Amino acid sequence: MKIEFGRFALPESGALVLGVLEERKLSAQAESVDRKTKGALTRAMAASRFTGGRDQMLEIMAPAGVAASRVILIGLGKPEGLGALEAEAIGASVYARLGASGEKDVAIAIDAPKGAKVGNAEMAARIAYGARLRSYRFDKYRTKEKADKKPSLLRLRALTGEAKAAEALHDRLDKIAESVFFARDIVTEPANIIHPESLAEECKRLRKLGVEVEIFGEKAMKKLGMGSLLGVGQGSARESQMVVMRWNGAPKGSKERPVAFCGKGVTFDTGGISIKPAGGMEDMKWDMGGAAAVIGAMHALAARRAKVDAIGAVGLVENMPSGTAQRPGDVVTSMSGQTIEVINTDAEGRLVLADVLWYVQDRYKPKCMIDLATLTGAIVVSLGHEHAGLFANDDDLAVKLVAAGQKEGELLWRLPLGDAYDKEINSDIADMKNVGAGRDAGSITAAQFLQRFVNKVPWAHLDIAGMAWASKDRATVPKGAWAFGVRLLDRLVADSYEAK
Ligand code: BES
Ligand code: MN
Ligand code: ZN
Repeated sequence: MKIEFGRFALPESGALVLGVLEERKLSAQAESVDRKTKGALTRAMAASRFTGGRDQMLEIMAPAGVAASRVILIGLGKPEGLGALEAEAIGASVYARLGASGEKDVAIAIDAPKGAKVGNAEMAARIAYGARLRSYRFDKYRTKEKADKKPSLLRLRALTGEAKAAEALHDRLDKIAESVFFARDIVTEPANIIHPESLAEECKRLRKLGVEVEIFGEKAMKKLGMGSLLGVGQGSARESQMVVMRWNGAPKGSKERPVAFCGKGVTFDTGGISIKPAGGMEDMKWDMGGAAAVIGAMHALAARRAKVDAIGAVGLVENMPSGTAQRPGDVVTSMSGQTIEVINTDAEGRLVLADVLWYVQDRYKPKCMIDLATLTGAIVVSLGHEHAGLFANDDDLAVKLVAAGQKEGELLWRLPLGDAYDKEINSDIADMKNVGAGRDAGSITAAQFLQRFVNKVPWAHLDIAGMAWASKDRATVPKGAWAFGVRLLDRLVADSYEAK
């Protein structure tokens, strides 16, 4: 779908989308169309329950008096409730309505009403961005889709008095959308296609944006002493990998330490010898959602040439049962030197991150370190699919993350850490075990485990187990891979770590 910006003019064909405030208050553009159509809009509203409330939509087919094939009225609600995310939702709902409707062209003429939280340029840019995000599809493996089910919309035009400014804002947003789509693609690909080595190959694509990409195979990781990560992958026919991506965008001579992102990249999680039940196991192809978010975020920072130095490190392994697999009760030695008794081979994400976190703080001394991981089923029990769990050893970092999440519609909810929880993972024969004694506070004991590998660096852990995959359509996330975290990390950098 092509996206364009221009001034308001009645389109010669295609759909026309107009805004209506609460209590059926037509925008200036809607009023002019109402006059041209001899009151078709007013009459259509009167004949329906459409009042202009937010999220309402009313479609008027082939109205006489204008060339448009249809006019769609969008309820804007109260102006003071209209911000960037609401504008995105408008674009998204227009796409959801028209994307596969047979319509090829849509013109959206919605100005920011007086009192809105965004101006005209941002309104137009965000509407286009929302439509783009909602338009994501993964149809590589569909060979028999009927033509009338395929997307038809080829062009979206956002009409505004501030087309130039809108286009400039949108240029940046579209780079984020591209990064989100890249992450969604690798999450959606099945595990016979995306495994540790092929995912490492995908990371190499970032080189063309100027990202340095360093790949560690099993031999290199053995040399570093990464017994914790390697133990998880030892049952797999695929070689484990760690990929470190570096974006050096800070102004020359900057003495700032880099920010660092770490991702869990379990390309398939069978549970290992502590094998998972069959029902729903296919979902575990997206157990690399944390790594995908980190890769997508690095893509975004590089694509928009962010003025920051950032490290993105992902631990890529496949957790399989086999004759060479790790057994419950095995003891492994992590790169930090700490030993771990592996009670449950299905608590593998923390074993992978333990070595990645240690490596990153040791090698780069980052000013902060944030990991993203589909770590525990328990976080889904706690927060469902509306918030990711946030754990942090640093209040300032936690506050910044929550704020970034609110701005981008990727919400976080903070949970506690503490010594009493930490004790739960003490082992009788090693420095720690990889699960708590019972199932209680499972997301917290997992976070406590990670904290033992961050060595006092300001750190936050995002448990995104409920957010990797949308089980229903959401405004800007069609059912399927979400890429939760890409927008959040990009926003965090833009608001808190980027040179001005
Ligand atoms: N990848 C899973 C967590 C998960 C579960 C993600 C459901 C998304 C949806 C993780 O590796 C895991 O298996 N965790 C175990 C930990 C337990 C053995 C302590 C879990 O949550 O059951
Ligand atoms: Mn697991
Ligand atoms: Zn897992």
